[in-house]
Amino acid sequence: MKTILVTGGAGFIGSAVVRQFLADTDHRVINVDKLTYAANLASIPGAAGHPRYVFEQVDICDGPEVARLFAAYDPDAVMHLAAESHVDRSIDGPGQFVMTNLVGTYTLLDAALAHWRRHPDFRFHHISTDEVFGSLGADGFFTETTPYAPNSPYSASKAGSDHMVRAWHETYGLPVVLTNCSNNYGPFHFPEKLIPLVIIRGLAGQPLPVYGAGANVRDWLYVEDHARALRLVLDRGKDGESYNIGGNNERTNLAVVEAICDLLDRLAPSPDGPHRRLITFVADRPGHDLRYAIDAGKIKRELGWTPSESFDSGLEKTVAWYLDNRDWWQAILDRGYKADRVGLGAPSPQPSPPRGEGVKN
Ligand SMILES: NC(=O)c1ccc[n+]([C@@H]2O[C@H](COP(=O)([O-])OP(=O)(O)OC[C@H]3O[C@@H](n4cnc5c(N)ncnc54)[C@H](O)[C@@H]3O)[C@@H](O)[C@H]2O)c1
Repeated sequence: MKTILVTGGAGFIGSAVVRQFLADTDHRVINVDKLTYAANLASIPGAAGHPRYVFEQVDICDGPEVARLFAAYDPDAVMHLAAESHVDRSIDGPGQFVMTNLVGTYTLLDAALAHWRRHPDFRFHHISTDEVFGSLGADGFFTETTPYAPNSPYSASKAGSDHMVRAWHETYGLPVVLTNCSNNYGPFHFPEKLIPLVIIRGLAGQPLPVYGAGANVRDWLYVEDHARALRLVLDRGKDGESYNIGGNNERTNLAVVEAICDLLDRLAPSPDGPHRRLITFVADRPGHDLRYAIDAGKIKRELGWTPSESFDSGLEKTVAWYLDNRDWWQAILDRGYKADRVGLGAPSPQPSPPRGEGVKN
């Protein structure tokens, strides 16, 4: 039995990783999460009381607390998914992204390095995004050697964290693996992101916002396929290497919204007519990257990973899940989350020069 410390395990992708570890392995999972607005422990049904599961509510920027976790649980690996992850929020409030994604990653690396010196089999898996590569034109794909060119405060903070992880490997020898993945979708996705937002608003008969002309292209991957890829890279990835993960499912945002409307028409028809009538074009996101597309050839070739869901099958499963699990998302709406538009303007004044406390020098 191995002990895996998962940061951000109450978030969308982290909870999928935790669910798989508990269901498909005999590993012990230490879920370390600050429980921000994006977290939901209800995304790990059956975890409470599970003999191989521990939850620790800790901010990864808190150095002494992070050191305590390493000492208490002696992990064989860290899978680092804790992050501020929403581009629109990063436009309004970049300071929190700098804190968690940069200072938090540094704090973890610092503790991980000390831990590795006592525990030589340890490895650090940093989970990142394809958004670090910037925007593509109509052609081409991001590979592991594409130069970084982040355009949003979110992607810039993730890019910085990727660079630190790489540097801790090159400079100190810390055993690391990195992954950069395209847009995820699936069950337990917080309703601020496009796909759950459109499903929930569509069910309520509310306007379905599409940024600009809806022409921006994303590559979509079902979250359970991403979680399987992450476990494979943790087990078999080569030290110091990065792996791109993607679904080879490029869609314009408008095509995604239309596909959801058509699924809702079939699975939850509205007496008021087809859901496409609700589509509403709204002002574009500032600095909106035109196209992301991933070349996932390396992880397929070297580790044998392929996604099991196509976009059509994964999207149908997702819409069906939101129909069958209204309690999960209704609880988020009931605790006051309003899917209001954010991220249109300049950043608001930031309260946060990095908090010194807890970060070791
Ligand atoms: N969602 C995507 O499409 C996608 C795609 C590629 C990569 N990623 C990356 O995967 C990771 C997870 O993404 P997600 O969509 O699950 O994010 P999420 O926003 O759903 O979850 C993030 C989790 O991290 C926790 N967290 C935030 N700040 C913390 C802190 N300071 N200390 C401890 N915990 C903290 C939150 O409480 C939350 O549970 C992120 O690093 C993200 O950049 C996401």
